[in-house]
Amino acid sequence: VVLVVDFGAQYAQLIARRVREARVYSEIVPSTMPVAEMLAKNPKAIILSGGPSSVYAESAPSLDRSLFESGVPVFGMCYGFQLMATTLGGTVDNTGAREYGRTPLTVSKPGSTLFEGTPAEQSVWMSHGDACSAAPEGFTVTASTDVVPVAAFENDEKKLYGVQYHPEVLHSTHGQQVLEHFLYRGAGIVPNWTTHNVVEEQIAAIREQVGEKRAICGLSGGVDSAVAAALVQKAIGDQLTCVYVDHGLMRKGESEQVEKDFVAATGVQLKVVDAQERFLAALAGVSDPETKRKIIGREFIRVFEQAQAEIVAEAPDDHPVAFLVQGTLYPDIVESGGGTGTANIKSHHNVGGLPDDIEFELVEPLRQLFKDEVRMVGSELGLPDEIVHRQPFPGPGLGIRIVGEVTRDRLDLLREADAIAREELTAAGLDREIWQCPVVLLADVRSVGVQGDGRTYGHPIVLRPVSSEDAMTADWTRMPYEVLARISTRITNEVPDVNRVVLDVTSKPPGTIEWE
Ligand code: XMP
Repeated sequence: VVLVVDFGAQYAQLIARRVREARVYSEIVPSTMPVAEMLAKNPKAIILSGGPSSVYAESAPSLDRSLFESGVPVFGMCYGFQLMATTLGGTVDNTGAREYGRTPLTVSKPGSTLFEGTPAEQSVWMSHGDACSAAPEGFTVTASTDVVPVAAFENDEKKLYGVQYHPEVLHSTHGQQVLEHFLYRGAGIVPNWTTHNVVEEQIAAIREQVGEKRAICGLSGGVDSAVAAALVQKAIGDQLTCVYVDHGLMRKGESEQVEKDFVAATGVQLKVVDAQERFLAALAGVSDPETKRKIIGREFIRVFEQAQAEIVAEAPDDHPVAFLVQGTLYPDIVESGGGTGTANIKSHHNVGGLPDDIEFELVEPLRQLFKDEVRMVGSELGLPDEIVHRQPFPGPGLGIRIVGEVTRDRLDLLREADAIAREELTAAGLDREIWQCPVVLLADVRSVGVQGDGRTYGHPIVLRPVSSEDAMTADWTRMPYEVLARISTRITNEVPDVNRVVLDVTSKPPGTIEWE
């Protein structure tokens, strides 16, 4: 394993992902973890992430010097680089000379371990206030910028490397190459981590954990729960029952996809619960987004509990239903573990999320994986592309894409508009380029239009196509005008009561991806 030491501000996750892209397994650890504990994990290398602090700030996180003397190869980035420099006797000045954003880097030692084969002038992403003016003894300076005399250094003998910039972001044009040089050349790691190994390991681990008992899994139609269920099904077969709660907030064709395609691909035992009436009744008269989310979460749990009781009642003498399968991903774990003072932006409702007082043991076979890796596992398990490459869809479904009260008529209308948008995006070959494209009905807004010969007073539909790597941040997708035009024409022609289509051109932040 390669450890990524997290100094804050979300850089660590991206680094961990880049390491895995280099086919080396990585894990994130907090910077407060004692060095002895890090070393006890037997890491093949350690990467120190960037972070928001200045090494001079009083509360700045530090690291014990013994880390650099342990013989484990270390790569410091940005804050991690400065920490390495100061800890080992180099000089970092608080000069006030800031560099932020795309910056030209001059490589002075082109044949060095990190920079071998990369150009002498390259663009890197900088974000710092302090600057390193002298490398520690025994280190060779390998690159500089106009502002920073020491922008990268290395000590091959001790296997210590550092760069002032952020190689993990795409704006650093040769960042991935530099990272791979550290892993392969610096640390001598052989890249062999694949999701294939994950499948085999997880199947064995699930069998061991569950034994002869039974498990259930809530299916939401999303990628994560589908892949988790398929993996567990492969491990324990009919000891698993999947429960699909049809809350009526799904998109067109979605329930059928779960019921037919998923079962066909996996042979899983499926229990479908039609709970449409129940959800509509619970949502009647509610327009506040957080209230909607809480109601949907609560009703889901009730239905799920009921289904669980039915499964037990149908075969009471069988082994107990002791396990709950969840499609929890690595970012969920990292975020909930490192959640110091993170604001609650929205009550995310993961279908499958249950209250504390239900006594299940959790089976979370995807807890080491990032989203793209989950997709690879899904393909490996033979799930069809329509499931594996599905764009993310929120647990509360269309319930949080109707701004205003959720009613059956409004759901039907939104379902039609959404189906048209999806059809056209697929036809234009944009499904993979666009991370997801929420289609939102502004049910409480009306505007004047003219259709046929008459005046109309209908609702707007919002298109929200976004590009993203992990949904933490996103940009609005610059998609072709012709495709937008086709979607707009079709929606206004084919969906009754909609007379306007608008495009959301807000990035995240400041806007979230969903409207509620
Ligand atoms: P936001 O709107 O917070 O969304 O920018 C980020 C990503 O999360 C999805 N999302 C949810 N997924 N349960 C989920 O399983 C939820 O309650 C939920 N709310 C938002 C959203 O579609 C986007 O991919």
